[in-house]
Amino acid sequence: MHTEPTTFSAEEYFATQPPPSTLQHDVEKVREFVERQNRDGRQVVLVTSGGTTVPLELNVVRFLDNFSAGTRGATSAEYFLKAGYAVIFMHRQFSLQPFSRHYSHSTNPFLDFLDIDAPESEGATPRISVTPNKREDLLQVLTVYKKVHALGTLHTLTFVTVNDYLWLLRAVSQEMAILKRRAMFYLAAAVSDFFLPRQKMSEHKIQSGKGSLHIEMDQVPKILKPLVDEWTPGGYIVSFKLETDPNLLLPKAKQALDRYGHQVVIGNDLHRRKFEVVFVSKKPQPALPPGIEQTEAAIAHASDASNAFSEYWLRIDIPETPTPGFPAKEIEEDIVAELVRRHAEWIANTP
Ligand code: PMT
Repeated sequence: MHTEPTTFSAEEYFATQPPPSTLQHDVEKVREFVERQNRDGRQVVLVTSGGTTVPLELNVVRFLDNFSAGTRGATSAEYFLKAGYAVIFMHRQFSLQPFSRHYSHSTNPFLDFLDIDAPESEGATPRISVTPNKREDLLQVLTVYKKVHALGTLHTLTFVTVNDYLWLLRAVSQEMAILKRRAMFYLAAAVSDFFLPRQKMSEHKIQSGKGSLHIEMDQVPKILKPLVDEWTPGGYIVSFKLETDPNLLLPKAKQALDRYGHQVVIGNDLHRRKFEVVFVSKKPQPALPPGIEQTEAAIAHASDASNAFSEYWLRIDIPETPTPGFPAKEIEEDIVAELVRRHAEWIANTP
């Protein structure tokens, strides 16, 4: 049976696609966290991280996935915590997480960090210790991790499908609205642009007997628009733009700012993302003195793209021989420092 693809608005999407079963529980926990941080007067950032899946069957055997290990999100979350922000870390289940990311099973298996010390006397239980050359790194990570736990400034949430992601993003951003300008959104997750509505999904595993597989997917609604305009109108919103063609990076970032009207797009090229990103934002246009009409020249000046946008390239040097697990410098440190600075300036200058 062939059915026409549907273009969903965000409203239609939420009216027709079911919420994840854990939504209510997740939202209650987020509410408690946000209220506590609000009482303590902290800035709170929602970091989204990792890729979303699109299941092809209701009893899921197969799904499409978006590329993202969760490195950008997990690393950035750590730097936000170090900068004094409380962090809601909304990530793809089993993708990298702040702190534990340093000991991922593929790059730095934690069992390789441990030694078994010979027992002091016969029959005594052997002791486990950390390999001496790993102690300093581990101590640094563990110190911040313990401090964050004691302060209660990290809250973690998981999603798997793009549907989980959309429902969670809407609910969490609505809870964060009470923070007003102290809320930041750092949308680093790789969100699928296409999905299969539940109503069009096969109930059981798609059978291979019919030869090739043709699937027509619908477009995921662009949720940045309602996020900016309705769900959390007071927040500072940073989205990411991933491209593989470097010529598209700036035009696409500018297009997103024009469309959604948020504060910053961080553009990253797939192959250069670990050492180069570009911050694109709208330049503030000079206010005209009261009583003076906008002249055609002023309007033309403001709408000329070279005057309307500011671009700030951030680059770091990559060492020729990287240390496994602990790079000398991570670009997220500078990304977060720049955003913390801009957020503070924006809070101070926004009435
Ligand atoms: O995790 P790593 O391996 O370190 O990789 C990090 C990253 C490259 C995935 C990350 O830095 C990044 O670029 N993330 C955004 C990738 C992406 O999905 O780009 P996009 O062009 O599809 O979306 C742009 C923005 O719109 C994103 O902030 C996204 O959250 C948002 N979006 C996307 C789809 C949608 N329907 N609505 C949205 O609002």
